[in-house]
Amino acid sequence: MSSLTSALTTTSLSQQMFSLASSTFRLAASALTRLQQQQEQCQAELASLAHLPEYSLEQVSWHDRPDDCWIVLNDKVYNVTKLVHNHPGGMEVMMEQAGRDATLAFRSVGHSIDAIEQVDEFLVGILPAKERMYLRSRK
Ligand code: HEM
Repeated sequence: MSSLTSALTTTSLSQQMFSLASSTFRLAASALTRLQQQQEQCQAELASLAHLPEYSLEQVSWHDRPDDCWIVLNDKVYNVTKLVHNHPGGMEVMMEQAGRDATLAFRSVGHSIDAIEQVDEFLVGILPAKERMYLRSRK
């Protein structure tokens, strides 16, 4: 290989390595920014929920009847007694979750934006910090 070819190959390799390193850096920086934004959103949400009473998963489990039905969604506690009989997805699916953490069941249905916004009207409390899985403070 001539010295010119060898020099060209080395330059092209260096350029590729530089380009790889800079795109890795950009990816890492955007992941970090996204993480910081998520943490800020979480802190803001926690601050907006600070006035709510805390109910443990055990306390929620006492409310597992059609005439007294609570569920947990994303660490927040909802009294859905008034919804049980009018739930568009039916009473049965709701009662399967009564007194429990229904986060995954609720998400797996793929509820509409309207349904997701509707949950706010049933909000009554929040889980204690040690039982939270989604709303975790970094402090
Ligand atoms: C506060 C809690 C809840 C609210 C406000 C709510 C609201 C709704 C609404 C408005 C719909 C009509 C379809 C839509 O707009 O997405 C729906 C459907 C449905 N919901 Fe819920 N829901 C709640 C909790 C749950 C839970 C805990 C489950 C348990 C798995 C569940 C299962 C379903 C099912 C299976 C459907 C029918 C979906 C379909 O036909 O495609 N929902 N819900």
